[in-house]
Amino acid sequence: MTDRYAVVGNPIAHSKSPQIHRLFAEQLNDDISYDKELIELGNFDAWVDKFFQAGGKGLNVTLPFKADAYSYAHKNTERAERAGAVNTLGIENGSVIGDNTDGFGLLEDLTQRLGWQVAGSEVLLLGAGGAVRGVLGPLLDAMPQSITLANRTYSKAEQLAQTFASVGNIEAAELSALGGRKFDLIINGTSAGVSGEAPDLPATLFKSNACSYDMFYSAEPTPFLKWSAPLAAEISDGLGMLVAQAAESFRIWRGKRPDFTPVVELIRSTI
Ligand code: ATR
Repeated sequence: MTDRYAVVGNPIAHSKSPQIHRLFAEQLNDDISYDKELIELGNFDAWVDKFFQAGGKGLNVTLPFKADAYSYAHKNTERAERAGAVNTLGIENGSVIGDNTDGFGLLEDLTQRLGWQVAGSEVLLLGAGGAVRGVLGPLLDAMPQSITLANRTYSKAEQLAQTFASVGNIEAAELSALGGRKFDLIINGTSAGVSGEAPDLPATLFKSNACSYDMFYSAEPTPFLKWSAPLAAEISDGLGMLVAQAAESFRIWRGKRPDFTPVVELIRSTI
């Protein structure tokens, strides 16, 4: 019987995950089904119970259910614990295991597809919400020289920096205190682009070979990338991160890792 997977969220119509996983299955000559499912708020546990009872093999979980998935799992991996959120549920020896592949996906995209240097780099990470928390562990594991975490609401950056202080060199900074600082890599993890805005930043933040990455993506360049384009040596949006986190979910479920790089370009042509 064909193994069944799905991505769940609310809303979910926009999700590219079914296309991505179909391309992975094709690449590996694998036979899976992968749907997108809209779950009503408050109905997460009941829906997921039914899915696994009916023999479903794995789920991707997107907004607003990542915390529900974290609570639902019988056990969470260490990286899900650090992220405080779960985007992948799978079955291992009859138990539901929660994992988080977002940070892994970001690092794969930065270092494998784009070939950018994270180890030894001075990194500026913008934002202090769930998206940023999800990637901080893997980003610190990659041994940057430092991560400066800046957010519109400073107290949130300060709290998050404290939470991760034992993992690596991370400090919080006020957005207004960034003048005069320079970085090798600037990553936007704020949702400012959703309302068409770029965070309000000085144009002097980039070292001469600096790279600029937006964890979000869209058909048009995001406002953050439009702002960065004349200032950075290289820029990228987060479509590669989306595809790479999906590849890691696929590996968790099926024990083989698709090559995510060609899939990024195939998905790019559909957005
Ligand atoms: P997500 O799960 O996408 O991280 P979130 O937890 O709501 O969503 O966090 C959104 C992040 O984007 C926050 O860091 C937020 O800043 P505040 O903590 O000050 O709210 C940031 N953000 C949203 N809109 C922004 C804007 N217009 N300018 C700068 N930062 C913005």
